[in-house]
Amino acid sequence: MAEIAVMGHGVVGSGVLEVLLSHTDSISKRAKEEIHVKRILDLREFPDLPYSGCFTKDFGDILNDPEIRIVVEVMGGLEPAFSYVKACLENGKSVVTSNKELVAQKGAELLALAQKNNLNFLFEASVGGGIPIIRPISQCLAANEMTEIAGILNGTTNFILTKMIREHMAFGDALALAQKLGYAERDPSADVEGIDACRKICILASLAYGTHVYPSGVHTEGITSITKEDVGYADAWGGVIKLIGEVKKLENGRVHIQVAPMFISRESQLANVDDVFNGILVRGDATGDVVFYGKGAGKLPTASAVVADVIDCVRHLRSDRKILFWEDAKPDYVQPWEDTPQDLFVRVSGKEDSDSLFDLAQQVFPEAVRLIRRDEEQGETGFTLSDVTENQLKAKIPPLEERGLKLENRITIADF
Ligand code: HSE
Repeated sequence: MAEIAVMGHGVVGSGVLEVLLSHTDSISKRAKEEIHVKRILDLREFPDLPYSGCFTKDFGDILNDPEIRIVVEVMGGLEPAFSYVKACLENGKSVVTSNKELVAQKGAELLALAQKNNLNFLFEASVGGGIPIIRPISQCLAANEMTEIAGILNGTTNFILTKMIREHMAFGDALALAQKLGYAERDPSADVEGIDACRKICILASLAYGTHVYPSGVHTEGITSITKEDVGYADAWGGVIKLIGEVKKLENGRVHIQVAPMFISRESQLANVDDVFNGILVRGDATGDVVFYGKGAGKLPTASAVVADVIDCVRHLRSDRKILFWEDAKPDYVQPWEDTPQDLFVRVSGKEDSDSLFDLAQQVFPEAVRLIRRDEEQGETGFTLSDVTENQLKAKIPPLEERGLKLENRITIADF
């Protein structure tokens, strides 16, 4: 019998109990041992549950119980999750977590601690919820050089953008609907400002290339600046706008990593990943593009990934082969975002008609390729540019302004 503890009985924690209790026999078969939840840590009372006798408010009841060899952390947030997980790993307990903030901030440290103590620290549920992505990257695709990983990693923002594209809703209305339907977080800023997606792409980058990338070192844009006009120009270009987390391995050994809304072609495999779904494309030099698609959040999808990690931990209790590892961050490992050339869409406004505005813009950007959207209004124009850095674009703002043009938005054009 493998005794485990679950820290946190919120949406994911209660889902873990539900999955473990409803699939007891098949899970035991796969783990080759029965799994029993001995303790559940939560400050709240749950008197009516069949397992209410397992609850404790005291972390010491878990830490100091030598029978508990595996601990599931599904509390979320950095503290006290980090202190508890660290203490577990220091005291001979493997840890499974769904906590993307914890892994993105402390992954290198916790993995090193787990390795030192011959324990597992597993986090399949931290990036794609129910979509398997951590194991595919660390094991199944490990023979490839993964040249690029790009994903729609946040369901809430994908729902908002889908409403803006399909139903021409304004950003604020689409966000209000997401909140009404319970998709957005209570404070949705982590979603719409790209912070949630940033944590997830940092975890994937760290895993794929073996060096920790901290969210604080990554350029992150959200979707709050995207307007119906931008959506219309993306349509005229032949694509849609999606919030993408992207990492590429560069020839100089560094990584280019960013979270930003991007124009993606209708031909792209990510273009039809809509509503609250997630999609992750892994470009391998041997496999070509491999795409993972499914529900990136939610109680049971996330819980199923957590329980799969628990099964692996049970199987590995008697083995020395631990599953995941990456080393801590290296200086200058992340290429400065402002210096990386990208294709861009640019939207400008002014007092003249659209044709005159584009002529003026072309004086500054002779290589600009004009886009004309349906319902284009006078006083605006949009165009694309190839291979421009953010610094080069910034340098062009004064000459644009001298011609009466205001830079309204610029959006990266994806290459997948
Ligand atoms: N708010 C997140 C999302 C939850 O929408 O994807 C999962 O990280």
